[in-house]
Amino acid sequence: MAKVFVSTFPFCRSDKKAFEHLLAHGHQVEINPMGRKMKPIEVLENAKDFDALIAGTEDLTPLVAGSSQLKLISRVGVGLDSVPLDLCIKNSVSVAYTPDAVSPAVSELAVGLMVDLMRQVSFADREIRKGGWTRPYGNRIGGSKIGILGFGRIGTRVASHLLGFLPKEILVCDLLDKADEIRRLQESANVLYKMNRELGKNWSPVLIRQVELSELVQNSDILTIHVPLLDSTKNLFDASLLRKMQPSAFLINTARGGIVNEADLYNVIKSNQLAGAALDVFDEEPYQGNLKELENVILTQHMGSCSDDCRADMEREAAEEVVRFFNGEPLRSKVV
Ligand SMILES: NC(=O)c1ccc[n+]([C@@H]2O[C@H](COP(=O)([O-])OP(=O)(O)OC[C@H]3O[C@@H](n4cnc5c(N)ncnc54)[C@H](O)[C@@H]3O)[C@@H](O)[C@H]2O)c1
Repeated sequence: MAKVFVSTFPFCRSDKKAFEHLLAHGHQVEINPMGRKMKPIEVLENAKDFDALIAGTEDLTPLVAGSSQLKLISRVGVGLDSVPLDLCIKNSVSVAYTPDAVSPAVSELAVGLMVDLMRQVSFADREIRKGGWTRPYGNRIGGSKIGILGFGRIGTRVASHLLGFLPKEILVCDLLDKADEIRRLQESANVLYKMNRELGKNWSPVLIRQVELSELVQNSDILTIHVPLLDSTKNLFDASLLRKMQPSAFLINTARGGIVNEADLYNVIKSNQLAGAALDVFDEEPYQGNLKELENVILTQHMGSCSDDCRADMEREAAEEVVRFFNGEPLRSKVV
């Protein structure tokens, strides 16, 4: 029997299968008692005497450095910026994650935020609650150029959701050559175009291209970020890059806080050099910063993964890795 601490919040809110799976295999489970994201020092204090951690995006460096008991970190999610992998290898701590289960929920949120930003849905809601009714005008995804930075699991799903909106172009930027993925997506776009033609609709075709970062930033009407937080992406969207975007453009970050410089974003939007932004992720969470002042900014609560089904899948997969590990079976999604 292993002692398992769950630091991720929420856990088993709408589906208890992960918790039940651990108990059914004889493990002792304690869950984050704080009802919020734990601070790194709190993870250390609460989890240092446990064999395994089921983790969210808390910084785990103090725990891995300070625990001699920890053998496994099972991440509920895909981002690994919060896990000190080199230290895990040095201290013989194994790490697993749930890379696929989260993509459907994040990609749908990103598309929802696109519609919200372009049509000012959240703004209209806030306005009506204050007694206003200005019927704001906006733009559509259809006919726009949509930029996707990071064409991995989530970025490709976003692109495939977008096809039905008929954007003018989907611009893709990735470190890797994404020609195969783009070819397959372009084939789907062409089928849609042909079908619409046969139905008598004279709708324009969607063009999908891989471009350099400079073209992505300069030409996107909406740019959505889906890269991991790495040394190379930290602070990537600083004042100089943000100012290269069109003043009429929007930025969406559902990837990680730290990729977009929040102070620079505030200044660029405040001075009308960017039309607006939607952020799901922040340097410090829960977010308390001054972007709250801006009407053309949408703020959500690091809830990209938070659909009932995706959370249930991620939590169950993370719990299954714990059970496998202590049964002496290989991890299914092993990181180190
Ligand atoms: N908001 C949320 O709740 C939430 C949930 C899940 C994931 N995420 C974030 O989304 C990120 C992406 O997830 P994924 O599953 O699509 O990852 P992925 O690894 O499948 O895809 C990431 C892509 O980014 C590319 N990339 C890396 N660095 C780049 C750079 N500097 N420039 C251009 N491309 C670069 C990679 O080549 C890869 O194709 C995760 O790392 C995580 O931080 C957020």
